[in-house]
Amino acid sequence: MRNGAHHRKRGHVDQAIEQVRADYDSVPYESHAFPQTAPGHLAAVTHLFGLDPPDVACARVLEIGCSAGGNVIPFAAWHPACHAVGLDLSAVQIDQGRRRIRALGLTNIELLQGDIASMDLAPLGTFDYIICHGVYSWVPENVQRAILSAFKRLLTPNGVAYISYNVYPGWKSKEIVRDAMLLRGGGMGTPQQKLSYARGMIDFLEEVAPADSILAKALSEHRALTANARDYYLLHEYLESFNTPCYFLKLASRVGEHGLVYLADAAPSTMFAVNYGDKIATPLLAECGHSQGLVEQYLDFVVNRTFRQSLLVHGEWGPRIQYKLDRTRFAGFHFAARTPSTGDPTRLDDSPQEYGEPGATIGTNDPGVKAALEVLAARWPWTISRRDLLDAVRERLDAAGVEPAADQQDRIDELLEQLIIRGLGRYRLEPMSADPPFTPLRLSEPGRRMAKAARADKHAYVVNPWHEEILLSAVDRHLLPLLDGTRDRDALVDTLLTSVRAGLLWFERDGRRLTGNAELRDAIAEHVDALSGRLIAMKLSGAGVSE
Ligand SMILES: C[S@@+](CC[C@H](N)C(=O)[O-])C[C@H]1O[C@@H](n2cnc3c(N)ncnc32)[C@H](O)[C@@H]1O
Repeated sequence: MRNGAHHRKRGHVDQAIEQVRADYDSVPYESHAFPQTAPGHLAAVTHLFGLDPPDVACARVLEIGCSAGGNVIPFAAWHPACHAVGLDLSAVQIDQGRRRIRALGLTNIELLQGDIASMDLAPLGTFDYIICHGVYSWVPENVQRAILSAFKRLLTPNGVAYISYNVYPGWKSKEIVRDAMLLRGGGMGTPQQKLSYARGMIDFLEEVAPADSILAKALSEHRALTANARDYYLLHEYLESFNTPCYFLKLASRVGEHGLVYLADAAPSTMFAVNYGDKIATPLLAECGHSQGLVEQYLDFVVNRTFRQSLLVHGEWGPRIQYKLDRTRFAGFHFAARTPSTGDPTRLDDSPQEYGEPGATIGTNDPGVKAALEVLAARWPWTISRRDLLDAVRERLDAAGVEPAADQQDRIDELLEQLIIRGLGRYRLEPMSADPPFTPLRLSEPGRRMAKAARADKHAYVVNPWHEEILLSAVDRHLLPLLDGTRDRDALVDTLLTSVRAGLLWFERDGRRLTGNAELRDAIAEHVDALSGRLIAMKLSGAGVSE
């Protein structure tokens, strides 16, 4: 390329990145935790399909396009032996994240402001897990290439990358709506003007779109999907200068050009044709069962998929990846599943019974399998290893005087495989548990710190060890930070009463704000007494653990 043309192209690229930076600086993206990106989950999925991922407990983790660190900061908080780095173009978002890191007192994480396409990555070192969520489709092509080449350069030999992106065919019809919104709102001055003009366009089109037309269908899907969407989301999803979906196979081939290979979906249940019913699975597997990529691309057409979350590894691992599950690998897993009996209490005989949640149940008439489902339900939300599960099943059968089947282990492995394939269970390479309850109540330090930091936030939440966001009530924002194991029930009530008297929170009954000492004490005590149940529901305390 001649020099002048090269400079013009470079200038154009810089301008595009500047535009993206300005968009996120002026309307920051709300920063959240995404359980499907948690390195513990990525490790488990990697192991499931035949590879050996890096140890999560001491991993180095990078998040590209981390916005204000809502995803990577809680990971660092729960994994003190790990080192985490977050990187984002927007200085406004990075500053917001740094304030949160200081509030949490974390020293194992740093947030860097920079452009992934032009910054010097060498000083960062290498990473066992690299996460890039909600970025790839929304950046210019040179940044897309930079993200994939950063994966290749920065991943440790057995490291795992996570990338999410918009896909066709689902985005074909969404593009009609986006194009219309951009046509009217794109050129407007302020973000609010853009949005308001774009909304006007949708209103207009809804009035005039012929019933049963493709446009009417696209608009009604848009309405349903964005009914509760906030402005920042609509702006960045529909009115950003870049939003470039692609077909899954296109992404897989681009990844190959960078020396990487597609390993799996972050929701593995979506990868198995059997989950879509025989009518779809049988012809699909007959036609393209030899190629997992093709099976998944066909499935994207079947379900009109709009979004994907893919795990990538170094290309050299390609031949080792196995899509037929190898049950011997289950020995390395710790499993969790919410599988209570849906009807009568378990009968350890060969009568049929059903377990699980509405719409996601497993039926069995095997007493050993019933016992396993009960053990998992009692343990939920925490995990049990396959070995301990087998032992617990044997104990339950023994206690009931029931002879285990000769192939009991195989039957339990078949159950575990079903839970995995259907997406009814969770599995990790590390045990997942929380502090067991004791008196006085205690919550682990990361949970206490997050709750305290949440007091200052508009959307106050903590992230639990499963990397799920839990919204906190105003009372819990004050109560959870107190659970350091030194305060008994009375001390908790006294401390909250002091906070009420200081005007930091209040209690109401029947719409009336409580002021008297006795009525306030009663109301606070109710909250304190219900606390251990709430901690279990939030997956912050291990009160359900039977050990
Ligand atoms: C849609 S937001 C997603 C944020 C977050 N990962 C999430 O999913 O909530 C995209 C983020 O990518 C960042 N970004 C865009 N271009 C970038 C670049 N060239 N280098 C680094 N970050 C970039 C933006 O600043 C923004 O925070």
